[in-house]
Amino acid sequence: MSDLKINMNNFEEVKKSLNSKSLRVCVIGIGRIGLPTALSFAKSGLQTIGVDINENLVRDINSKKFPLKDEPGYENIFNDVLEKKLFSATTKIEDAVSNSDLILLSLPTPMDENNIPDYSALTIVGLQLSEILTPNSLVIVESTIEPGFIEDEMISIISKSGRLKIGDNFSIGVCPENANPGEILHDFTNLPRLVGGINQNITKIITMIYKYVFSVDLIEMENCKTANAVKLTTNVFRDINIAFVSELALMFEKLGIDTMKVLEAAKLKYNFQVHYPGAGVGGPCLPINSYQLLNTARRTGVKLSIVESGRKINETMPDHVIELTSNAFEECKKSLENSEILILGLSYKPNVKDIQLSPAKYIIEKFQKLGVNVHVYDPFFLSSEVFGLKVEENLENTLSQMDGAIIVTGHDDFKKIPLSSFTKMKSKILIDCRGIIDPISVKNEKIIFRGLGRGDF
Ligand SMILES: NC(=O)c1ccc[n+]([C@@H]2O[C@H](COP(=O)([O-])OP(=O)(O)OC[C@H]3O[C@@H](n4cnc5c(N)ncnc54)[C@H](O)[C@@H]3O)[C@@H](O)[C@H]2O)c1
Repeated sequence: MSDLKINMNNFEEVKKSLNSKSLRVCVIGIGRIGLPTALSFAKSGLQTIGVDINENLVRDINSKKFPLKDEPGYENIFNDVLEKKLFSATTKIEDAVSNSDLILLSLPTPMDENNIPDYSALTIVGLQLSEILTPNSLVIVESTIEPGFIEDEMISIISKSGRLKIGDNFSIGVCPENANPGEILHDFTNLPRLVGGINQNITKIITMIYKYVFSVDLIEMENCKTANAVKLTTNVFRDINIAFVSELALMFEKLGIDTMKVLEAAKLKYNFQVHYPGAGVGGPCLPINSYQLLNTARRTGVKLSIVESGRKINETMPDHVIELTSNAFEECKKSLENSEILILGLSYKPNVKDIQLSPAKYIIEKFQKLGVNVHVYDPFFLSSEVFGLKVEENLENTLSQMDGAIIVTGHDDFKKIPLSSFTKMKSKILIDCRGIIDPISVKNEKIIFRGLGRGDF
C-alpha cells in the first residue's frame, strides 16, 4: 500500500489532491465506456490505470493500439496520455487497486438467456475489493444497475471480508453512464450527469471530481438508488416509446399511412418527443434496462405492464421484417426458399460498430431457417465474420447477385446508395426497416418495395 493515501472521505483533502494532481485513479472494466472514462481522467492530468480481464485488450492498449476506432476524438487523447505516461492498462487488479485512491467500476451488466440481469462481474470485482481495497478509498459504480443494488447488495459484498466498514473506512457512490456509443466524446463533454453517494458528503466529493474531469453539469441526487432510478427511467422511456411508434407503424402500414410523415408533423408539437419505429431494439442498454426495471418490479411485488408490453412489441418487430419480405416475394411470385437476400446493417444502431443484441441476428437466423441464402454487408464489419457469415466486401457486385436486400440498420452510408444500385438486383426487392428510402422514387425505379410503417404507395 502506498504511503500517499488520500482520505477520500475528506472533501478538502480530495480537493487538494485534484489541484496537485496527486489523486490516483483506477478504472476497472475498460471497454466501450470504461476506456473513454479512463482516458478522460488521464487527460485531466490524473494518473490513471485501467484494469481488465481481457488480456488482448490490455496488450493492445499498452502497445499503443487504440481499440475503439468508431469513437471519434479519442485516438488522439489515447496517444497523448500514453505518451505522457498518464495512462496504462493491466490485468492485475490487486496492484492497480492498492495504488489508487479512486476506484471506478465500468463493468458489464448484461442479462442471461432468461432476461434476468446478470451482475456477476460487479459481484466478482466487489469480492476482490473486499480483500484488496485500501482503507479510505472511494468506489464509484458507473455501470447501469437497478435502484437499490448499491444499498442492498454491493455494500455488503465489499464489506464481506470484515476489513472495511461503509462510511467508516470506505465509501461508495454512483455516477451512471449515459453516453451513446459512437458519440461518447460529445456526450461526456456535454450531457449532464447524475451523482449519488452513500451520504451528502460523498455526493459532493464525487461531484467535485467529475466536475474537474468532465466540466459538465452534475445533478446531485438524494442517494444512489435515486440516481440509478433516473438512469433506468430515461432509457426505459425510450424503449417504451419505440414500441409505441412501432405498434402504430404496423397499423399505419395497413391504413396506407406513411409513419415517417406522421412523425415529421407530430414532432412540430412542442411536447411530442419523436421516436422511430424499426426492425427491433438492441444494444447494451435499452432491452437490458427494461428487464432490469422489470426485475426490480418483481422484487418489490409490483407489475410494470407498460414496460412488459413494450418489450414484447420490440421483440416481435424482427418477425414483421420477415413478413414484409415474404409479402414482397409473393408479389413477384418468387419463393423465399433458395433465394439470395442481402442484409444491410448488422449493428444494433446506425453508425456504430456494435452488434450486441442486434435484431439483425434474429432476422438472419429466421431467414436461414426458411432456406434463404443470407448474405450480409455492413461498412463497420468489412473483412470480418459476423453471426457466422462473412461480411461482403463489394456492395455493388453483391447486389447484382441478390434477389432482394433489407436495410436493417440505418447507417449513413446506406443513405448514399443510389437507387440504381438496387435495380441491379435479380428480383429488385427492397425492404427498408429504417425509413431512409423515399417510397415514391423507389416506385419510379420499378423496385418492389416494402417500407416498415410506410403504407402502400
Ligand atoms: N455501451 C453503452 O452504450 C453504454 C452506455 C451507457 C451505460 N453503459 C453501461 O456501462 C457498463 C459497461 O458497459 P460497456 O458497454 O462499456 O461494456 P463492455 O463490455 O464494452 O466493457 C466491459 C469491460 O469489462 C471487462 N470485464 C468484465 N469482467 C471483468 C472483471 N471481472 N474484471 C475486470 N474487467 C472485467 C470486460 O472484459 C470489458 O472490457 C454497463 O453497465 C452498461 O450497461 C453502457
